[in-house]
Amino acid sequence: MIRFNQKEQIFHLQTKNTSYVFCISDFNSLEHLYYGKKIPDDNVKHIGNRQIYGHVAHEHREKREFNASVQGFEIAPFNSGDIRTPSVIYNCDGNVDCNRLRYRSHQIYKGRKQIDGMPYSRESEDTETLQITLTDDDNQVEFTLFYTVFQNVDVIARHQTIKNTGKTNVTVQKFASACVDFYGMDYDVITLEGMYIYERAMVSRNRIKRGTFKNESLTGTTSHCKNPFIAICSPNADEEMGEVYGFNLVYSGNFSEEVSVSFLGDTRVLLGISDVGLYWTLKPNESLCSPEAVMTYSNGGIGQMSRNFHDHVRQSIIEKEFVYSARPIVINSWEASYFAVSEDKVLELASSAKDCGIDTVVLDDGWFRPHDKQGLGDWRTDKERFPSGIKGLADKIHAMGLKFGLWLEPEMVNENSELYKTHPEYVLTTSKTPLISRHQYILDLTRDEVVNLIADRISQELEGAEIDYIKWDFNRYATEAGSFKTAQGEVYHRQMLGSYKLLAILKQRLGKALFETCCGGGGRFDLGMLYYSPQIWTSDNTDPYARVFIQNGTSVAYPVSTLSCHFTRGDCTSGRESTYEFRYNVASFGSYGYELDLSEYSSEDKKMFKGYSEKYREIEDLNLKGDLYRIISPESGSFCAYMKVSKQKDKAYLTFLELNATGFVESTTLRLKGLDPDKQYKNEESGVVLYGSTLMNVGIRIGDLFRKKRSDGYSVLFTEVKK
Ligand code: GLA
Repeated sequence: MIRFNQKEQIFHLQTKNTSYVFCISDFNSLEHLYYGKKIPDDNVKHIGNRQIYGHVAHEHREKREFNASVQGFEIAPFNSGDIRTPSVIYNCDGNVDCNRLRYRSHQIYKGRKQIDGMPYSRESEDTETLQITLTDDDNQVEFTLFYTVFQNVDVIARHQTIKNTGKTNVTVQKFASACVDFYGMDYDVITLEGMYIYERAMVSRNRIKRGTFKNESLTGTTSHCKNPFIAICSPNADEEMGEVYGFNLVYSGNFSEEVSVSFLGDTRVLLGISDVGLYWTLKPNESLCSPEAVMTYSNGGIGQMSRNFHDHVRQSIIEKEFVYSARPIVINSWEASYFAVSEDKVLELASSAKDCGIDTVVLDDGWFRPHDKQGLGDWRTDKERFPSGIKGLADKIHAMGLKFGLWLEPEMVNENSELYKTHPEYVLTTSKTPLISRHQYILDLTRDEVVNLIADRISQELEGAEIDYIKWDFNRYATEAGSFKTAQGEVYHRQMLGSYKLLAILKQRLGKALFETCCGGGGRFDLGMLYYSPQIWTSDNTDPYARVFIQNGTSVAYPVSTLSCHFTRGDCTSGRESTYEFRYNVASFGSYGYELDLSEYSSEDKKMFKGYSEKYREIEDLNLKGDLYRIISPESGSFCAYMKVSKQKDKAYLTFLELNATGFVESTTLRLKGLDPDKQYKNEESGVVLYGSTLMNVGIRIGDLFRKKRSDGYSVLFTEVKK
């Protein structure tokens, strides 16, 4: 609900459990007052208007004590008297002028307006928007701030536009989507740190005392190393208790996020597209729109913050059509045969698929090239290895009663391709001798003609083929990114807009296909991609021991159904062995599939795989719709444990994994989470019936869980016993 208190000039944005309050100040700026647990009052002005003598000029001519740098602001332009880190920097005709932004008008309406050309949180029945216009009359610049409230899931989304309403050019050099000020400085910052084959595996926590903490990606993607999710929390916050403010961007390119503690001990959170290299020129009448930022508040610790974001992603980011539907159980050809794939090989995989409970056969890289040195940009099927073409193969797979999926990497071109030879100017570069990575360049998607050309080539090649699933890959970072056509300071963001355009066109042309995005594993795992693809390939690292960390970190911000997780040989990245059961227990964390050469496995093995697929289908509704409770983080020592609980709390799935053989496993007690204390639950394996309250307080002894091998880990279903 959004209220405007006319008398006090206060905006109060309320969700089910939170309040976000700000006012129009005496000088018509937007002064932030409060964000946190829901409060009934609108008028909390007493908390603002703080007076501390400073040396900065301001508009309170008579009040020496007024200091803009201790007020909270909703937007904080550079050079405005607030000497903290600014949220926007723009200049007019080359001058960074004093940017006095004045409130002009606002509207409150049900629903929301869509953001053209960019992903955003989709409207549902709980959605309401506050739109505020501010102007800088000296420079004739207009800002519009959008606050969209998603009441049921405790999420507020923000974005803004800047418009040049004058007669000279305006240049934008920093343009955060959101600025959120907090009074006080008692916060830890949580980020998801990682690297290639270890994406988001390190949930990192830093105490910010003074100065600025920056979470930033400059790779042209959100990257393997960084993620746009960021949170601040009270130092005592853990999974279950304490205050946590979570933030994320609905964006997949370069981003900058800052948490800074000012000299006076207040905290400012900024998040948006990266300002590094940003120099965006707005001619008269032109405007620029920021990506959307989302934020949530939890006073139930990190776990509740995660669940708020999970609900939001499912309600408003993922397409309705896919979000709660059973996902394909795939067999993917990559780890089965890498580039040595052929029609025969795919048909061979398909012939065993049903025996393993698999319903979708995915042809990965290799269908238009024998290695990674050619093919991208031309996308011509290798007719020697795929004599029936993609359409023919898809038909054969469908005739076997299976679905067909295909790998694509549309944003790239190999040096050794017809496209690059005829159009070397179509790649992103600032040099005549562009830098190459994995033998490929990134296509210049800031140019519409390139976007359209790629879309046409790929659709021509796939003409008539019925494709049920697309794996959309992106296998290098941007380096020396420039364009032969687009202004340098606009390249990175325009490139991202081009990628979104291409995704939208091909999604539309490929009709019913479910898209899974990928980026050399999980290098573009973000809300921007989830808008187009309900699931993302989490990592090229499928060693289950490493995956536990990767999946645990990723789940802090993203619902488990968005993590694509495959049962594989498990040893490809590490050489480490693991049992089948352990691999299943880890891979069933998310959307489950296989990546194996099935011809190497016996019929006994296949029977086991079938059993796993069936077991997964039994708990899939918990993955798609349930709540995640992390019980033991793998980072805390030798174990990892988590539960998925249905919203009705009538069904729950516990997974316990031992990562490191220790002596004390026998006596360790595990207290379950998320159950209804007053309901009785049956352990579907042992048949023991206990109250939720008993399971959550007394717990169970881990030693009792291991009737099988400790190295298998353990998963069990609990179902409500109706009285
Ligand atoms: C990336 C993906 C892999 C596979 C290869 C193909 O690395 O993450 O799963 O698709 O590309 O080249």
